[in-house]
Amino acid sequence: MSKGKILVTGACGYIGSHTWTDLLANGFEVIGLDNFSRSSPEILKGIEKISGKKPINHKIDLRDEGALDVFFEKEKNIDAIVHFAAFKSVGESVQYPLRYFENNVGGMISLLKQVEKRDIKNFVFSSSCSVYGNVKKMPVTEETALAQAESPYARTKQICEQMLEDFALPNETKIVSLRYFNPAGAHPSNCIGEYSHGKPQNLMPVMVGSASGKFPKIEVFGTDYPTRDGSCIRDYIYIMDLAHGHTKTIEYLFNQQIKEDYQVFNLGTGTGVTVLEMLNAFERETEVKLNYQLGKRREGDVIEIYADPSKAKEKLHWEAKYTLGDMVRTAWNWELKNNRK
Ligand code: WQD
Repeated sequence: MSKGKILVTGACGYIGSHTWTDLLANGFEVIGLDNFSRSSPEILKGIEKISGKKPINHKIDLRDEGALDVFFEKEKNIDAIVHFAAFKSVGESVQYPLRYFENNVGGMISLLKQVEKRDIKNFVFSSSCSVYGNVKKMPVTEETALAQAESPYARTKQICEQMLEDFALPNETKIVSLRYFNPAGAHPSNCIGEYSHGKPQNLMPVMVGSASGKFPKIEVFGTDYPTRDGSCIRDYIYIMDLAHGHTKTIEYLFNQQIKEDYQVFNLGTGTGVTVLEMLNAFERETEVKLNYQLGKRREGDVIEIYADPSKAKEKLHWEAKYTLGDMVRTAWNWELKNNRK
């Protein structure tokens, strides 16, 4: 008998797939919904190897309201939805804003129509620290006022959070937005990890790709920032810490008499790390020398952002447990196993 039936959208993506394994490991039944626009069915084999259960994914685009209605007509008794399905590249969103609004916001609207029609009681949204924009006071708490979004991607996350807050009020659904910081690393089994759709933009996949010879070098985007070594500061969080944060959120929604209709939680480590420190951590952990050059700033980058994760610790009984070394080692193992040039 499972602890509950969870629908995970974007379930074959990086964070979705790792969350899938954590929910299974903690006694939940999971149904996947992913159209493979930014993921690979390969990941399902990895989930089966880890869990020993055959994962079920439905290849549906959230914006296809007819297909979604047929799915919800058949798939009864969903206790909660964890909604990851969205495009997530900052750079791509600057180039194709409409594609991001249509997919990320349009997909959310289509899904919420089903939440309302089927009276789904619990909803967890995959938000992002990028909703904070360029704020000065660190660390950021959930009460930190949101600044101007630095990209259309970040703006879609701000809009979706605001839609959820308005939606929660008249509906019986309890809603939580989880603001992730920078996810990194791969499952400890090395059966699943991060697949990059096209050339990776994020630091960790660029770093391991360069170390394995896929790219000639790494460019450090700016070393003239007002930080301890001139490079940007981020809160890198191990992917399985992040995955478990979703499981703890579902347990919180199921087990507590919650008064609030809508809540927000930061899922970060609370520690800021510079780009150069991350490169050094990689070389220390893997003993592989990186070839990097100091380059110009990247448009849209915030200088510094890291979390105050105390609210999640207090209410979700969750905190990040893994280290930068765990992130680097598992990301490197995944690269060596799956993406060598
Ligand atoms: C981190 C730092 C770069 C590549 C974004 C989204 C966030 C989340 C993660 C979805 C920055 C520097 C990077 C490189 C570099 N998205 N860098 N050389 O931009 O902080 O966050 O991706 O979940 O919501 O906003 O992540 O990894 O791209 O950059 O110097 O080749 O690494 O300038 O300072 P970012 P990132």
